[in-house]
Amino acid sequence: MKVLIYDDAERAVVSAADQLVAVLETKPDAVFGLATGGTMLPLYQRLVELHRDGRASFGKASTFNLDEYIGIAPDHACSYHTYMREVLFKHIDIDPSRTHLPRGDCADCVAEAARYEALIAASGGIDFQLVGIGQNGHIGFNEPTSSLSSLTRIKTLTEDTRRANARYFDNPEDIPKYALTMGVGSILATRRCLLLATGVTKARAVAAMVEGPISAACPASALQLHPKATIVLDRDAAAELE
Ligand code: F6R
Repeated sequence: MKVLIYDDAERAVVSAADQLVAVLETKPDAVFGLATGGTMLPLYQRLVELHRDGRASFGKASTFNLDEYIGIAPDHACSYHTYMREVLFKHIDIDPSRTHLPRGDCADCVAEAARYEALIAASGGIDFQLVGIGQNGHIGFNEPTSSLSSLTRIKTLTEDTRRANARYFDNPEDIPKYALTMGVGSILATRRCLLLATGVTKARAVAAMVEGPISAACPASALQLHPKATIVLDRDAAAELE
C-alpha cells in the first residue's frame, strides 16, 4: 500500500486525476471503477477540465460504478446514475453505453448483483478503481462486518451511513435502507486501486485502514491486501497516522 500525503485537498485531487489520466494515456480503452460522494466531486471536476483542455479522452474507456441505492430508479434526482451523469459523463466524451452502474430499481436485486459482477468479468476486469472511504471505514457500501471476499450484493446501510447521506434527500424517510454494492473481494480483484480521502472527518478511518489490523470491522483495511493500492490523502485526512 503506497500512501501519498499532500498539503491540501486540491493537491491531493490533482494527483489522483493525474494518476487516472496516466492510465488513459497508456491504455485508452481502460476499464475504470468509479465512486460517488462529496470527495469525488472536485476530482470529477478536474477530469472534466483536463478533458476540455484536450488532455484526457474517454472515447474508448468503460466505467463501472461501485454502488447504487436500492429502490431508486436511474432517473431519480438522488440516484448515483444521476450523480455520474450530471457530474462527469455528460461533460466528457465517454460513450454512455460503456458506463455501468447497478440498477437500484431491480425487481430481483440478487440477480442484478450477479449480472453486474458477471458484466465486470466480461469486460476483462477493472484496470483502475477509484475508492472513497466512509467515516466508519466502509468502501463502496461495504459496511463494517462485510466479508473481505464479498462480491457485488445487497447491503443494509448503517444508520451512520444513512445520516451521512441524509444531506442529499429532502425527507429523512426517503433515505434508502439498502444498496447494491461491489464487494470488498470485487475491489481487491481490480488491477490497481486509488483511494482518495480528504478532510479531518476521515482521519480515524484512514488510520484504521492504513495502520490497523486487517479486519472486517474496517472494510477499507482490506486494501492492505491489494497488490497495487495507492492511498491519496490531504494533511487533515492523514492527521491520525503515526
Ligand atoms: C460512494 C461510495 C462511498 C463513498 C464514501 C465517502 O459511491 O462508494 O463509499 O466513497 O461514503 O463519501 P464522501 O466522499 O461523501 O464522504
